[in-house]
Amino acid sequence: MKKIIAQGLKYKYPLAETLALNDISFEVEAGEFIGVIGKNSAGKSTLCQAMVGLVPHFYKGAYGGKVLVDGLEVKQHSIADLSLKVGMVFQNPFTQVTGSKMTVYEEIAFGLENIGLPRDEMLKRIDEVLKLLKIEHVKDHNPFDLSGGQLQRMAIAGIIAMKPEILVLDEPTSQLDPAGSDEVFRAIHELSQQGFTVIMAEHKMEKVAQYCNRVLLLDEGKVAAFDTPEKIFSRDDLESYGVTAPVYTRVCRALGVKNAGTDCYPVTLEDAEMALRGVIK
Ligand SMILES: Nc1ncnc2c1ncn2[C@@H]1O[C@H](COP(=O)(O)OP(=O)(O)OP(=O)(O)O)[C@@H](O)[C@H]1O
Ligand SMILES: [Mg+2]
Repeated sequence: MKKIIAQGLKYKYPLAETLALNDISFEVEAGEFIGVIGKNSAGKSTLCQAMVGLVPHFYKGAYGGKVLVDGLEVKQHSIADLSLKVGMVFQNPFTQVTGSKMTVYEEIAFGLENIGLPRDEMLKRIDEVLKLLKIEHVKDHNPFDLSGGQLQRMAIAGIIAMKPEILVLDEPTSQLDPAGSDEVFRAIHELSQQGFTVIMAEHKMEKVAQYCNRVLLLDEGKVAAFDTPEKIFSRDDLESYGVTAPVYTRVCRALGVKNAGTDCYPVTLEDAEMALRGVIK
């Protein structure tokens, strides 16, 4: 089942001279984990915002083509309606905290209170998401006492509690230290294993290679390629898109070692190890 369909999507911010999104078409199946990559200003964040309706409803501007999320055409539905289908996590966890709640528990309850959920259902959902994001032990802490990784997982918990089926993340770990990043990537991976459809704009190619089943390569607002991580990171012209392949891929390329029986270089540590063992013997 298709969870996201973009057809000829074009978008220009008000007062901008060029299109931020220029004729974007792609389709995502339920349960996929898609990495969106490309150099600065390629359109990754704009595309994320077009999935949740901030583009065009919040930013306005010129819009053409269409995007359907879980069957809803983004342009025809409000951001509030769309938020029941698709949730978005931003780069900076601090900007996603209300600032008015004393505990992590209350912070997660906030969004659910807003949609008028019955109390029993609300308590059940909060317990579920606290477990899922592994932040039960900090549920009574003040959000501002959390580490960056815990704070971002709290933000994700608040989104997941709304039970969207699609999760859009815009560089969710760019403000976090390596330990916090790993916690958040593991949590997103877990959600993807549970069946969520995930779209993640990301600059850390090792993570994209490790977790994503397909990669959307953007360049100047256009789709340059949409394929498996192995195919994308094995492209000879990758650097021309401002993207550097994972270190494992670069080492194997330098040694001329490909995944057995394929025309692609390894993209993860595990694949590289297996391919290299095959030639060392
Ligand atoms: N609020 C805005 N108003 C006007 N133009 C914008 C706005 N946000 C982004 N743009 C422009 O839209 C284009 C795409 O930007 P976008 O932020 O989507 O790129 P990105 O791929 O997310 O880049 P980065 O890797 O730096 O996050 C760029 O030319 C950018 O200058
Ligand atoms: Mg961006």
